[in-house]
Amino acid sequence: MKITVVGAGAVGATVADNIARKELCQELVLLDIKEGFSQGKAMDMMQTANLLGFDTKVSGSTNDYAKTAGSSVVVITSGIPRKPGMTREELIGTNASIVKGVAENILKHSPDAVIIVISNPMDTMTYLALKSTGLPKNRIIGMGGILDSARFRFNLSNALQCSPGDLQATVIGGHGDTTMIPLTRLATYQSMPVSSFLDAETLNKVAADTMVGGATLTKLIGTSAWYAPGASGCALVESVIRDEKKVFPCCVYLDGEYGQKDICMGVPVVIGKNGWEKILDYQLNAQEQEAFNKSAEAVRNMNSVLSTLKL
Ligand code: LAC
Repeated sequence: MKITVVGAGAVGATVADNIARKELCQELVLLDIKEGFSQGKAMDMMQTANLLGFDTKVSGSTNDYAKTAGSSVVVITSGIPRKPGMTREELIGTNASIVKGVAENILKHSPDAVIIVISNPMDTMTYLALKSTGLPKNRIIGMGGILDSARFRFNLSNALQCSPGDLQATVIGGHGDTTMIPLTRLATYQSMPVSSFLDAETLNKVAADTMVGGATLTKLIGTSAWYAPGASGCALVESVIRDEKKVFPCCVYLDGEYGQKDICMGVPVVIGKNGWEKILDYQLNAQEQEAFNKSAEAVRNMNSVLSTLKL
């Protein structure tokens, strides 16, 4: 079993590190365009193997896609990250051609891979990867909703003073500061609605803090976050590799589900060995559906920028 992570920056390296620690594969290839960079990160990780006791062999590759041949899952994290004050959407000009090139190169050597896209603006990069490769829709998954939901649970657990593991809470929609939709109505604390414990004002603040979760970290750190994005990417890889059939909110191609067509956006899906296998229907109320439609409009506008770029 082989997994490739493209992009050895902070997010890519953290996804790889999590995968290695969990021994999700025998062989893990970390690929980057910067000479020696991925080899250095791979070596650093391998020097923890004896301390942490894992067997996965991590190796680096400077842009040599032949080394990634035969991967079952490929995670794309390539591109530039946000700087403080930047939106994810502002990255499109640089990241679109990178993501398109990476997806094409990957498929030359791993034609059966499930592809996970983390590069931003993630909803548009997922759509681009799907359209440019022509892969079956189930094999392209954008990772954003798992991360946003983890941040939602973190914020809820602080408000409730409870363990985040006791919470079920999901963010759907786009992976943007204004497009994500934390579903407060459906959030539960051990099967009890969180609204029985928190007033509307607190819940609104939790939702608002969740939506700017990435921007808050970017401001504090000076670049975008990596621990939670890395753990989220790894959780998705794990459900594919182990065929766990876990339900995660992921960015997938909609063909009428949630009232939208020809767009990739975050909805709850079952993740297994074939990629995303099924979309679940949350039965949104009118207000939530309106927010979803508005989010779709923004994502669609961003997707339309793709046709103006020379890719
Ligand atoms: C974030 C980036 C990974 O939200 O999109 O931190």
